[in-house]
Amino acid sequence: MTTTDPITIRFAEPADAHDIARVQTESWRTTYAGIISAEFLANMDVSRRAAVWHNGLTDRNNRNGYFIAQTTIGEVVGFAIGGPERDGHPVYKGELLAIYLLEAYQGQGIGKRLLKTVAAWLHEHHYNNMLIWVLAENTNGIAFYEALGGQRVETKTISIGGDDLEEYGYLWSDLTPFLYGNNSPLALA
Ligand SMILES: CC(C)(COP(=O)(O)OP(=O)(O)OC[C@H]1O[C@@H](n2cnc3c(N)ncnc32)[C@H](O)[C@@H]1OP(=O)(O)O)[C@@H](O)C(=O)NCCC(=O)NCCS
Repeated sequence: MTTTDPITIRFAEPADAHDIARVQTESWRTTYAGIISAEFLANMDVSRRAAVWHNGLTDRNNRNGYFIAQTTIGEVVGFAIGGPERDGHPVYKGELLAIYLLEAYQGQGIGKRLLKTVAAWLHEHHYNNMLIWVLAENTNGIAFYEALGGQRVETKTISIGGDDLEEYGYLWSDLTPFLYGNNSPLALA
């Protein structure tokens, strides 16, 4: 399968848990090398993460939306998750909780389609804005969010693998530009 095959975006199912964990682990290792501790990245365990994803995908009380990007032969190459903003902030309502692609599939517009899908889903579920946290050292992620109109509104420090890392919060205060339209590239199942 080459990286130019058409990509479909669809809702994730519990059976996708392992593929999500695989993409997450591979993408973390390529994205965060030199940013997050090498030991932490080496110790990421796909099976353990798959179990967590499976719990989330089967939990009836879960209010998140899980989306997959897959090739024509069903290879999962990316995923994105949206849901209610995690800290109960008075202004920020929706959150893009994760968005990860395999390195070979980056830079082809798939991330934009995933982000638009999550934004439209959040809007449909009455979250009228969308926050995303990105590591300050993830300059590619930041460039992506800024290219799509995100505004930096927050800074905080988090701990990953024993290291303190700076994170920026980016906000889309209006999700209507992302809504489905006749020319929408979205292809929800
Ligand atoms: C960040 C990520 C999801 C972006 O998805 P992508 O498919 O690579 O990005 P796209 O091709 O859809 O780019 C969308 C827009 O962002 C711009 N963009 C993306 N990366 C960019 C970069 N590094 N520098 C400048 N602009 C960039 C593109 O030019 C494009 O602009 P356009 O709409 O005007 O054409 C993807 O690269 C990825 O998975 N990266 C590794 C994991 C990661 O960092 N996730 C975010 C964690 S917070």
